Amino acid sequence: MQMSPYTPGEVAEEVYGREPILEGIRRDLAFMTVEPRFAGRIRVFAGPRGVGKTSLLRAAQADAERVGRLGFQTVFVTAGDGPLLLSLIESLKEVQLGPVSFGGEAGAAGAPASSQGRRLQRVLVAAGEEAQSRSHGLVILIDEIQSADPEGLKALAYAWQQMQSEHRDLPMAAYTAGLSHSQDVITDAVSFAERFKYQHLQNLSRQDAEQALRSPAAQKGVTWSEDALVAALDLAGGYPFFIQVVGDETWQAAGHPGPGTLIEPKQVAGAISGFDDTRQSFFRARWQKATPAESQFLRAMAAHGEGPVRRGAIADEMGRSTNDISMARRSLLDKGLIDATSHGYLEFTAPGFAEFIREESSDSL
Ligand SMILES: Nc1ncnc2c1ncn2[C@@H]1O[C@H](COP(=O)(O)OP(=O)(O)OP(=O)(O)O)[C@@H](O)[C@H]1O
Ligand SMILES: [Mg+2]
Repeated sequence: MQMSPYTPGEVAEEVYGREPILEGIRRDLAFMTVEPRFAGRIRVFAGPRGVGKTSLLRAAQADAERVGRLGFQTVFVTAGDGPLLLSLIESLKEVQLGPVSFGGEAGAAGAPASSQGRRLQRVLVAAGEEAQSRSHGLVILIDEIQSADPEGLKALAYAWQQMQSEHRDLPMAAYTAGLSHSQDVITDAVSFAERFKYQHLQNLSRQDAEQALRSPAAQKGVTWSEDALVAALDLAGGYPFFIQVVGDETWQAAGHPGPGTLIEPKQVAGAISGFDDTRQSFFRARWQKATPAESQFLRAMAAHGEGPVRRGAIADEMGRSTNDISMARRSLLDKGLIDATSHGYLEFTAPGFAEFIREESSDSL
């Protein structure tokens, strides 16, 4: 018997399919160890719920701490638990163990963005210099950036803008993650929007999804048969959370296999009821949270199937203009129920949600 190597609902131990992103981060940081510089653009990884944003940031953090001979110091902040400025200052304090104190740096709420930004800048510089004296520099990670308060985002953008011109040689970089509409939230809050560079995170490709099932098992000497893999991925699609659920359920159905075991389709079949239960409660929790306007929107969207739907087609289905439905669209993005893909297209984040909604709707007729 071996413990399941899958991690439903937990930060992934290994992030499949994100290697190109992580490689880019490691490369940028490696350059900074040779030629210290301030990374002028804040990276934003945006994507729907459960696509693996937190796991990616944690992997980037672990990588940053291992870059070069000394590694980078890191701070990790989750936005939305309070004002972003305060959370940042609190965690930057932890970098700074030296004699300088940040007492009173949080500043009065409601102070102009520039003075909040100045304060943040002072704290960033102090922490950056401290980090540089002990390592290759400082890496700041911010999760759930779509939940940050506008004042906090303003201060961050302002400080970053100033540092870019005043502290060019200070080795510091920031990586953030948030739901798909993070760009809207940031653009609404700040005027230096070009300080942020966005990248959309999507579900895993077929190949990466296969790896995500195969590799953790292989590390325990357990092999997935081709047919079992196909059956499991039919259930999970490329959605990382479902991949972990199906992997975990299959592992249990196989009796926590020991080394040398082959996972077969019958064990995936044994995982279906557990997988369905998890998926049903996952969908139900989301469906119940939708307001009447949102449910109407979701129904109209589900009527078009699982794939990406044009915003205009949803409006037509509802007999409204795209303007009329923009509030519902935004709140659904906010809740992570739908995702904005390429321009004007929307899609469900979790495979099977459209079908669930169609079934729910026909039950209630
Ligand atoms: N690259 C990956 N490969 C395999 N599994 C992953 C990957 N990324 C995330 N996971 C798994 O997917 C699930 C969701 O991961 P994570 O919490 O990082 O997503 P998230 O986008 O931060 O979600 P949320 O929006 O709810 O905060 C977890 O079970 C995690 O183990
Ligand atoms: Mg997360």
